[in-house]
Amino acid sequence: MKTFFKTDPHSYYQDGDPKIQHLDWNIQSVDFETRRLICTVELTFDKGGVTRLDTRDLRIWNVRDEHDHMLPFTLERKDLNLGSELRFTVRNASLKVRIQYEVNANASGLQWLTPGQTADKTHPYLFSQGEEIHARSYIPCQDTPGVRFTFTVAITVSHDMRGIVACNRFVHRIVEGEFAHEKWAMDYPVPAYLLAIAVGNLVSADISDRSRVWSEPSMVKRAAEEFSDLPKIMKVGERLFGPYPWERSDILVLPPSFPYGGMENPCLMYLSPSLVTGDKSMITTVAHEQAHSWTGNLVTNASWRDFWLNEGWTVYAELRIVEELYGKDEAMLRLKLLERECARDFERFYKTRPLFTSLAPDLSGIDPDDAFSRIPYFKGAMFLIALEEAVGREEFDQFIHKYIETFRFQSITTSQFLDFVSVELTGVFDLVGAWEWVYEAGMPDNAPEISSPLITTVEQYVLQVVPPLEAGKNWSASQWILFLEMLPRPSLVEFASALRSTFRLDKSKNTEIRWAYLLLALESGSPMFSEAEEFLLTQGRLKYIKPLYKALHTLAPERAQAIFKKARSGYHPIAVGQVTQILEGKQ
Ligand code: BES
Ligand code: ZN
Repeated sequence: MKTFFKTDPHSYYQDGDPKIQHLDWNIQSVDFETRRLICTVELTFDKGGVTRLDTRDLRIWNVRDEHDHMLPFTLERKDLNLGSELRFTVRNASLKVRIQYEVNANASGLQWLTPGQTADKTHPYLFSQGEEIHARSYIPCQDTPGVRFTFTVAITVSHDMRGIVACNRFVHRIVEGEFAHEKWAMDYPVPAYLLAIAVGNLVSADISDRSRVWSEPSMVKRAAEEFSDLPKIMKVGERLFGPYPWERSDILVLPPSFPYGGMENPCLMYLSPSLVTGDKSMITTVAHEQAHSWTGNLVTNASWRDFWLNEGWTVYAELRIVEELYGKDEAMLRLKLLERECARDFERFYKTRPLFTSLAPDLSGIDPDDAFSRIPYFKGAMFLIALEEAVGREEFDQFIHKYIETFRFQSITTSQFLDFVSVELTGVFDLVGAWEWVYEAGMPDNAPEISSPLITTVEQYVLQVVPPLEAGKNWSASQWILFLEMLPRPSLVEFASALRSTFRLDKSKNTEIRWAYLLLALESGSPMFSEAEEFLLTQGRLKYIKPLYKALHTLAPERAQAIFKKARSGYHPIAVGQVTQILEGKQ
């Protein structure tokens, strides 16, 4: 019997199986009426043998080898978290395998939007979101961050739309009657979760010779201005983390239902339109996604248990970039905000699953979307800051360079990282209590301090619970958000309305300020239901909608249900799943 070892409990791939080296995806039809994709994927393996692919809700038509001979295959019954295993044997005489299949309307990693759900309301829209285990819902593949491949995508779309792909090379666009055939190529190996496409009425504006912003036409100018610091961010990133290996760094601004603030798809980060505020106040998210091109896309977590290696490292890298460009105070403020967000997750998991508050929890049998929290982000970054403080910045910077150089284009586990720390930073493992940081619940006592004068002013007003009448006029968006997040729950309803009348927080152009204000009001028992409804019908970012539904569910469960019923068809499948759980009292 073959014994095998599984690094990743979220994939049917087993260590030692033939591995995908290259993938050619051909999307022959994007049907907005029936919300179906008709596809062929050709996989090139490194060797022959029994091969297991991940799929979810795909209709597999046939599997053939490169000589067009049918290969027998087995599609196993669906596991709720993992989907269905697709198994066949790759013959050494043909390492290429072609699969014809169909993607149905219920693919968990795709969102189909009607024209009415887009910014310009003229064309429908489709986008994919692979992280963490959704790539299998549109491509049969080894959907584990431990397998990397190069790829091409050929996509046929309506002639008045674009089909764009996160990759380094645009090959061509050929218009033929009603259709346009686009072709794109990725020459650097990446895991499946980073393969991303989008179809819509998309245009672009250049912001440098390496970067352009894509969005629907009405937004493109504003978005290009909002994110005009990207070239600076790239330069600082290169100084800190080594040469930028992906050639281009473009941005796609998505419709408001995009469930994340940002997603680090290589060469083309995806961003929420809520970041386009007119005052560049959300630029730290761009720094975050840009930082992922080193920490995450170049050095990748081996499984979702090691997610903190992606996100903790990226928050650390983001803070370093922010510190360099906008100052230490700004970076500290950013970290403090993350601490506040994280506090909610600690509270939730302490009660239900204390080990989820460790940095590398066992996620076997768990849907990674359910385990998502800010803990790997915040605690991971704090652990790295603790390491930095133990050896000093100069030595730590050398360590960072060596870390990225050593593991580039690899996927690594937490224990590989800890071994690397033991070898490279002598004595530090025990000094900072690395074991406790990584494997034990909660925050260690020796967590680094987070302080900045910008935080102190905010805290003064929070402690006295008075509106910052004079000071508030000069506060940055981040300070306002921190202030709102730090106020006690419940705060006096009169206090919230004083803030509203003096600072018009409910009308702020900054979505995050409007959200933080609304959440404070709801968590303080204020029945701002129509405002909540308006917000929840127009925003789909999980970070915003999850806490709002939780607050509404506590305050007025029927109202929460009624709003969800209306908003649901506009939400991404991941958001629908998460909100459903909240309203069932499961989160
Ligand atoms: N990679 C994440 C987004 C993600 C994580 C998608 C897990 C799916 C599963 C991205 O880099 C991220 O962290 N986004 C943050 C932004 C941020 C500035 C911390 C977000 O969306 O809130
Ligand atoms: Zn991230």
